[in-house]
Order: sequence, then C-alpha cells, then structure tokens
Amino acid sequence: MVELRDLVKAHEDWRLREAINLQASENVMSTEARSLLSTDFAHRYTLPEDLVPGLAGLKNAYRGTKHTDAVEALSERYARDLFRSAFASLKPLSGHLAGFMLLQACCKRGDRILVVSSAHGGYDGYMPGYLPEYLGLTVDFLPFDERTWNVEAKAAADAIIETKPRLVLVGASLILFPYNLRWLRGACDDVGTILGYDASHVLGLVAGGEFQRPMMEGVDVLSASTHKSFPGPQGGLFLSNRKDLFDRAMQTFLWRIQDNAHWNRIASTAQVFLEMKEFGGAYAKQVVANSKALGKQLDLRGFPVKFASLGYSRCHQIHVDPIVLRDAWGLTPAQFADRLEANNLIVDAVGRIGTSEVTRMGATEDEMQSIAGLIVRAARGEDVRVEVAEVRAGLRLSFVFPS
Ligand SMILES: Cc1ncc(COP(=O)(O)O)c(C=O)c1O
Repeated sequence: MVELRDLVKAHEDWRLREAINLQASENVMSTEARSLLSTDFAHRYTLPEDLVPGLAGLKNAYRGTKHTDAVEALSERYARDLFRSAFASLKPLSGHLAGFMLLQACCKRGDRILVVSSAHGGYDGYMPGYLPEYLGLTVDFLPFDERTWNVEAKAAADAIIETKPRLVLVGASLILFPYNLRWLRGACDDVGTILGYDASHVLGLVAGGEFQRPMMEGVDVLSASTHKSFPGPQGGLFLSNRKDLFDRAMQTFLWRIQDNAHWNRIASTAQVFLEMKEFGGAYAKQVVANSKALGKQLDLRGFPVKFASLGYSRCHQIHVDPIVLRDAWGLTPAQFADRLEANNLIVDAVGRIGTSEVTRMGATEDEMQSIAGLIVRAARGEDVRVEVAEVRAGLRLSFVFPS
C-alpha cells in the first residue's frame, strides 16, 4: 500500500528534482523560508483587540503572542519598505482572499467596478458570478486592445469619467505588459474613483523594481499572492496608500473573510522580503530577460508564441498562440501540456509558459535556448526526458543568502 510519506517523497523527487517547472503561477522557496513554515508559529493564534469590539484595552485576547506580534510588525514593515506602501497586511491567506479584502474595503453593495475581463486574461474571481456577486457589486470590463494585450488607456479613462465606477481594478492572470497607470489615475482623480491593482502574478517583479511600481504610480490599494513570481510560501498580501481604506479593510476582515492568519506563513514570507530586498532586482531582471529569450527561441523554432513585435513579454510569462497551435500543430493547449508533462516539463493547460521558477533555480538565456528546444521536441511527440534531466541537473537555487 502506498503510504502518505511515499507520496510526498515521490512528489518531491519528481517536482523538485526531476521536472523543470514552467508554470507561471508557481515558484520555489529558499531553504530558510521553507524551514520557517515548520516552526512553532504553525501552531499559534493571535487575536488583536483592535479588531474585536468589546476587547478594547487588551493587547491581545490570546497570551504567549509577544514574538508573534513582533513578527507581524516586522513583516509589515518589510512589506511597506519593499513595495513603498504606506500600509501593509499579510493576514490574507491567499491572493483570492486579499482580493476579497480589497473589494470589501473599497466597495459597498450596489457599487459598480471596472475590471479586466477574463476573456483578456483577467482573474476569474472578479468575474460577475464570483466575488462581485457575493459582495453585491456590478461588474463592467475595461476597454482592452488585444493587439497590445493591454488596457486601452484613453478609452478606459473616458469610460471611468463617463460611468464613475467606485473602483477600477487592473491586474490579471494572463498579464504580459505594464499598465498605463498615469492615465487611469488621472481619470480616477477626476471622478473620485479608487484605483486598485491585483499584482498576484507580478509581485516578484514589482519587488525587484521591474515591470512597474504600482504603489508609486498612483495606485490606492493592491492585493497579491505571495507565491507566483514572488518566490514565497502560498499566501496573500494587501497594501494601501490610504489610511481610510486600510482601516476599513482591517475592520471588515476578521470573521468575515477569515480568522487566524497562519503565522508560520507570515514569518516565512518575511524571510522572502529580506531575500527580495537583497536579490530582487537581479532576480526580476533575469526573469524578464528569460521570458523574452524563451519567446524568441521558441519563435525561431517555428513554435507559436504571441506578441513577437512587442518582445513577447515584459514579465514572467509568455503566451502560446492557441489558434496556430491547433491549426499547425494539431494540439489544444491541454494536449500540449500533456505532451510536455510526459517529458517532465510542467506547464498549465491555458497556454501560459512561466519563467519565475527556473530563474529562481539559476536559469539564464542559455538554459532558455535548451528548454525551448526541448519544449518544441516534446510538443512534436519526441521523448526528451533524458535531456530534460540533464538541464534540470544543472540548475541550483539562486538569489538566496549563502547557507
Ligand atoms: C490575478 C490573480 N489574482 C488572484 C489569484 C488568486 O490567487 P491565490 O491562488 O493566491 O488565491 C490568481 C490566481 O491564479 C490570479 O491569477
């Protein structure tokens, strides 16, 4: 009978040692950050009185929390410094819950919001039937230019001024290029609209000063996952430059969105903030260079990658053209992903290829050339497992403090 430990070991051997992970929404942690996940913080609660009506005057409803409280204060300070934000919270357990927190802080029932449509890579959780329905919000979509894979800044500014939504929320799951936040900010200012950014996918690049710096470019509130291009444990982050919105986020959080915050995760994320402060610039630059190189190398081999004239990407992922994949290669994105998986090359089945994790593992443009060759051969149905293992064997965790 297969035991739990056998499954965990088999998973780790495969995903950490044999496979090359090109999933845009995943990453790997340093040994130090990983080890913080299994500290005593994993067992503990806190319950700050400022969140609990009737407990005013108590420092914390739980005892034994002095170090936990200090870790919370430290992690929030690191987050504020790294992202240049006035306020920060690491309490949300995921990017989705951070987005929930953002919507709840900014909006009341009956409000209207403008988001990136899922047809244009926007996050499904913000589509009408999901979080907005739950919170009683009406959703409209930002005008989008499919040729530049970006929000059409001028048309969006006009729509904001004309329709005066409560919130404009940019950010997406299939994001490739930075937004023109200046135009959006200007329009939001004209009509008193809040500007939000879901940086779940690009947080690691933002930490390294690549892509864009939303909190310095006029964004009021930001939500994010801490485990996609940002190489942390799975978790969420909420930032705000407005005290009123931050206070409301905290007041509407406890017992509505969640209770306990998982302090081991927060300690681990704080460690990754330190790593990103030190190495984030070099990591983020290499991630973007690798995306561009991978796009080009695939293109040179006749594999369909979108947006060649725009350099393929400015972030941690490139987008396979599903139409050409179907017509010229006879593959759906899911069949493509299956052929790669059979060769220990891991991608998702929605046509994204990500470079965060391989960059964290030390890959540069040279490895992108090898990996592109392997992707193309695997897509053609060849068995390239031996060559994948060779490339994988040359990768080592990078952008971490010496142990
Ligand atoms: C843009 C965006 N926001 C939020 C989320 C949800 O993140 P999490 O999985 O951390 O809840 C995702 C997930 O893929 C995402 O792509």
